[in-house]
Amino acid sequence: MPRALITGIDGQDGRYLAELLVSRGYETFGMIRGQNNPRAQIVRDETPAVELIEGDLQDLSSLIAAVEYVQPDEVYNLGAISFVALSFRQPELTADITGLGVLRMLEAIRVVGGTQDNRVRFYQASSSEMFGKVRQTPQNEETSFHPRSPYGAAKVFGHYTTVNYRESYGLHATSGILFNHESPRRGLEFVTRKVSNGVARIKLGLQEKITLGNLEAARDWGFAGDYVEAMWLMLQQDEPDDYVIATGETHSVRELLELAFAAAELEPWENYVDSDERFMRPAEVDILTGDATKARTRLGWKPKVSFPELVRMMVESDLAEEARKAR
Ligand code: GDD
Repeated sequence: MPRALITGIDGQDGRYLAELLVSRGYETFGMIRGQNNPRAQIVRDETPAVELIEGDLQDLSSLIAAVEYVQPDEVYNLGAISFVALSFRQPELTADITGLGVLRMLEAIRVVGGTQDNRVRFYQASSSEMFGKVRQTPQNEETSFHPRSPYGAAKVFGHYTTVNYRESYGLHATSGILFNHESPRRGLEFVTRKVSNGVARIKLGLQEKITLGNLEAARDWGFAGDYVEAMWLMLQQDEPDDYVIATGETHSVRELLELAFAAAELEPWENYVDSDERFMRPAEVDILTGDATKARTRLGWKPKVSFPELVRMMVESDLAEEARKAR
């Protein structure tokens, strides 16, 4: 039975990946941080087969202990401060967890596994946020980076550290440059879920408006369930490498609003949406569009869920969930 360790198992991607690995026969371990972390229960309920272990990306000795205990074949490093807006308010913490955390995890693998015949395969959750103020469109593995947030800068550090450990120590270290990916499990702080949840609450008479920031921002949005499949495929390759994972389609926050309100038969959306400076960022990533040709040709990966399907899925899930809570 192959063994896998996931950091950030209580996040959206960790939960989808845990389900995928368990269904593929992996003995799956998830790292949980903090004392009596309430999110651990969500993972226990969804995937009881997963064994949760304590550990923290800020604490190297806890990572060494985790790798020693699990003896993993594959490590998926999904743990991070992942909310870009928060990274402006807590830049040092973001650099420490999202950036240095990658280095600590790689060190733990290097120290425990040794440099000779180290069989551990490592996946780093890199991000399209690294492209930031984009140098070319669409963005692929060769596009240079220009991060626009402390989060983006920390991800660039993590990305190059992964490449460096591959080149320096021959580790099977792979970096997946994933564009935005969403689902009903997305945190409420991210724009897609803030919108789908707001639409559901407006429909049910629980809320009057949604207050957002920049409505002109545009993203390449895919479904998280499709994207964790790509993570797994990357680690099944003989050679470690970097891969862009994206749909190749870009939509604005306005288009998101149009589709989400239409899915709940609330129109026009302009009647229900405000924009407020509070939600603007000191520097913005205006538009992202990914070119996942390499993933398609080498991994045979392509996204299955379209943007309209994704928005509908999220609105319907929030409508059901909010109605259940209101009962
Ligand atoms: N969150 C949020 N809230 N975003 C808003 C709002 C709002 O009220 N109004 C407008 N936006 C705009 C943001 O300014 C941004 O341009 C866009 O909507 C998307 O914001 P998020 O959903 O917060 O995602 P993100 O693109 O900043 O970051 C996500 O994707 C990255 C990959 O590109 C996160 O998942 C990152 O962790 C990930 O790396």
